[in-house]
Amino acid sequence: MYSEKVMDHFSNPRNMGEIENPSGVGTVGNAKCGDIMRMYLDIDENNVIRDCKFKTFGCGAAVATSSMATELVKGKTIEEALKVTNKAVTEALDGLPPVKVHCSLLAAEAIHAALWDYAEKNGIVIEGLEKPKADIHEDEAGEEY
Ligand code: FES
Repeated sequence: MYSEKVMDHFSNPRNMGEIENPSGVGTVGNAKCGDIMRMYLDIDENNVIRDCKFKTFGCGAAVATSSMATELVKGKTIEEALKVTNKAVTEALDGLPPVKVHCSLLAAEAIHAALWDYAEKNGIVIEGLEKPKADIHEDEAGEEY
């Protein structure tokens, strides 16, 4: 049911934990399953994501998608990180069962929420970034399949 990559990222999550004094932090949840994800970003003066860590209180797919999302945005510019959609996360994991697609939405949205926090703290506008939702459902965010 789960790909090897999902199992790998679930069993050995990358970048789990938190960043002290992060440039931005974002938390999103899904009221239906009750899972919550928090992403921390450390962004340097050139707008490059130097470090990214996560804490996830959720299902195995939520842990795996958080882990993969941190790997995908690390070392990227803010602009590039915005292109890391839930679809990109899911593809990088070699797919997810349909019932678990919302877990990848949480991961992508948590990154956006952390970027939003960074922008607010610094009084800047990030082109193409919309105000993140605190509660994510399959039918209202992210890319359709
Ligand atoms: Fe809701 Fe995975 S079941 S985040």
